[in-house]
Amino acid sequence: MVINSSIRYQRERLTIDDIDLESIVNEVGTPAYVYSLARIRDNFSCLNAALAPVHARLHFSVKANGNLDVLRTLKEVGAGFDCVSGGEIFRALNAGAAAKDIVFAGVGKTCSEIEYAVGRGVGWINAENLGELAHIDAIAAEADRQSVKVALRLNPQVTANTHPYMATGHGAAKFGLTSDVIRQNLNAPERYPRLDMTGIHMHVGSQLGDSKSTLAALDKLLALARDFPQIKTINLGGGLPVAYHLGETPPSLAPLAAELARRLNPYTVLLEPGRSLVADAGVLVADVLYVKRQAGQTFVIVDASMAELIRPALYGAHHEIMPLRKTNGETVTTQVVGPVCESADVLARDRDLPPLAPGDKIALMMAGAYGMTMASNYNARPRPPEVVVDGGRWWVSRRRETIEDMLIVEASFRRS
Ligand SMILES: Cc1ncc(COP(=O)(O)O)c(C=O)c1O
Repeated sequence: MVINSSIRYQRERLTIDDIDLESIVNEVGTPAYVYSLARIRDNFSCLNAALAPVHARLHFSVKANGNLDVLRTLKEVGAGFDCVSGGEIFRALNAGAAAKDIVFAGVGKTCSEIEYAVGRGVGWINAENLGELAHIDAIAAEADRQSVKVALRLNPQVTANTHPYMATGHGAAKFGLTSDVIRQNLNAPERYPRLDMTGIHMHVGSQLGDSKSTLAALDKLLALARDFPQIKTINLGGGLPVAYHLGETPPSLAPLAAELARRLNPYTVLLEPGRSLVADAGVLVADVLYVKRQAGQTFVIVDASMAELIRPALYGAHHEIMPLRKTNGETVTTQVVGPVCESADVLARDRDLPPLAPGDKIALMMAGAYGMTMASNYNARPRPPEVVVDGGRWWVSRRRETIEDMLIVEASFRRS
């Protein structure tokens, strides 16, 4: 069975770029994230090709996956980066990104983050409030920078068709500035002499169910931009959807690309895709610890949890479960749960799965985006390793944390 071009069953074993996933976790243990770099390159070139009519420059959204090998791979194929903290800028630079290829977004940037971004010379700052504009201007003056490129983030007052936690463009959202406020600022550039306010940014949400909200927001953005000839760059944010359910395919990008091209012809266009570049390149592999039949239910208790993959608990997100060894037994309605002390720690609810037994290994699919970056040490669980696969070999890109790693930053930690 082919799940995607990189992750598929071969001779009843789940493989990633032709390497048996079980052979990897036999060495690195579970839980473990495993990513295909080939799949990420492929996703990047497919997205670039689909968006060719728009001539968009893609800035990968580091919040989706901050692994240094993943970032380096994307940099090598020509991606820029969308960062939302000083930490993400540091990561992108460390992976070899040029500062000018970084856009710095975020609803609450601290002065020290702005100082870092301006000092390193990031390409764009996407600004979201007036206090921030004043800070950037003052910091630029202090750093003797004549001008810093700023894209004002528009809150287009459009509600995206997605999970409410992933919608960011409605009027009540904390994100962006109203059209009126942006207008006032563009009409009075002398307020911020060091800011080169020649861009407008928007991002209506993530995992968008359709492109209606994007186009509605873009129309509002363009109505604003047309009054200000100094606006040359439009950043559309991210949000392209992926298919989390087996058998589903994400909608073709061709109609959206044609609409964007028609509207955006005179502008330089930036996009900030995250999920669509990396989600299907990664799996989280877990080991079955116990099977418990109770209250008419079958609980499969695995060694991964909401601490390693929070999406099911946070958004009710669906991740397919694939046993690493394919079996053909009659399926059982199963609750796949983790060891964390929260009733929300359910990785898959009411799933029809082949019977699983302690020692069996399973993969949680589509875990390459918002998996490891959202992982925590909750319940004092060390974060899992990240393994990357490329060119017929694999390596541990980030090792498993140890229980000592988690205490090392505490002043009263005593090594035994
Ligand atoms: C401003 C901004 N840009 C880009 C992204 C990436 O979105 P996605 O991973 O859906 O492409 C996000 C996600 O939250 C975002 O907030």
